[in-house]
Amino acid sequence: MRIKRYYMEDWLNDSVGAAYNLSASGCQDFFLGDFLASCHAGIDDFNNLFLGDNDTRGSLRLRQAICRSYERVELQEVMVSNGSSEALFIFFNELLEPGDEVVIPFPAFQCLYQVPLSIGCNVRFLPLLDCENWRLDINSLSRMVNRNTRLIIINNPHNPMGWTLSREELREIGCIARENNCYLMFDEHYRYLPLQPGTELIPSGFDVCKDINDKTFTTGSMIKCFGIVGIRIGWLIGEPTFLARCRDYKDYITHTIPLVTDHIACIALENKDTLIRIQKARILPNLDLLDDFMERNRDVFEYIRPSGGVVCFPRLKNKQSSESFCLELRETYGVSFLPGYAFEKDDHLRLNFGIDHGKFRSALQRVQEYIDKR
Ligand SMILES: Cc1ncc(COP(=O)(O)O)c(C=O)c1O
Repeated sequence: MRIKRYYMEDWLNDSVGAAYNLSASGCQDFFLGDFLASCHAGIDDFNNLFLGDNDTRGSLRLRQAICRSYERVELQEVMVSNGSSEALFIFFNELLEPGDEVVIPFPAFQCLYQVPLSIGCNVRFLPLLDCENWRLDINSLSRMVNRNTRLIIINNPHNPMGWTLSREELREIGCIARENNCYLMFDEHYRYLPLQPGTELIPSGFDVCKDINDKTFTTGSMIKCFGIVGIRIGWLIGEPTFLARCRDYKDYITHTIPLVTDHIACIALENKDTLIRIQKARILPNLDLLDDFMERNRDVFEYIRPSGGVVCFPRLKNKQSSESFCLELRETYGVSFLPGYAFEKDDHLRLNFGIDHGKFRSALQRVQEYIDKR
């Protein structure tokens, strides 16, 4: 197996020192002290923390906390991983063989199609940019899936588009998978951040489709939604015997989750309502600013308002490559957006609205100066 380069990583590394880094995909991250204070947790627990080995599935306390984020997930259906990338990598390698047909809406987060391509799968891309509002069209998906399809991959909320699917749409996808006897993977990395007022949690495809199609799996995480990206925790959920085989892979690579990060993850999930409230208090006003900015600059950008997560994927209207736009913006104004080549769409760029509100406002002012000067 030969793996391709991750398109976005060099840009992300070079943007770490940017005054306004809007190229990453998480929320404003916490310092440990602030995180513990927000969760009313003490540092004393860390003094008493055992530094031995962990259960290879993740601690019982953590798996219980993960189950409470779902309606229908049972303990034996959970395997904790080092980031959801590990869970996805293992899942694809356990399930897929060269020549297997995989269907995925595109553009997409790279590992979701690159790992199946590297395995030698026949990956079929459903072009989102041809769909209304760049949103997944279930009828088009249904036309693309057939009895040869081994796996459908759905990322909801979507990175980079920012759309979310309703319970009804998730059900329809479950039915398409059942009719074609294929596996279904929901990557739900941004599930904790619905952007519609009054919504707490985006419905999980696993909860909705579990009884429709027993070949349904999901990966999840909270590190980006909660602002604790450095702890690199994720999970895989699905049928327990399949999960046991996935654990075999993990035993060969990372084996366990360090107990320190497992402990932080437990605190985070046990205080999820508080952490989501803190992040949303930042994100929702940022989104209002972004809407105004995009309205003012509608001759420059084509923009669809996101309904979940912390990224969106506007298009540059004059057909220029976003790389030169983003490079000049970063070099001259200190603002980093992620160029569209990271998603193989040169005339788009990805923009993160999860950062500190004051910084976000200043960043947009700088972008406005740049646009006005051009
Ligand atoms: C949609 C999506 N899936 C998976 C991942 C990988 O997540 P992790 O950092 O937990 O490995 C990311 C990270 O940005 C993502 O955006």
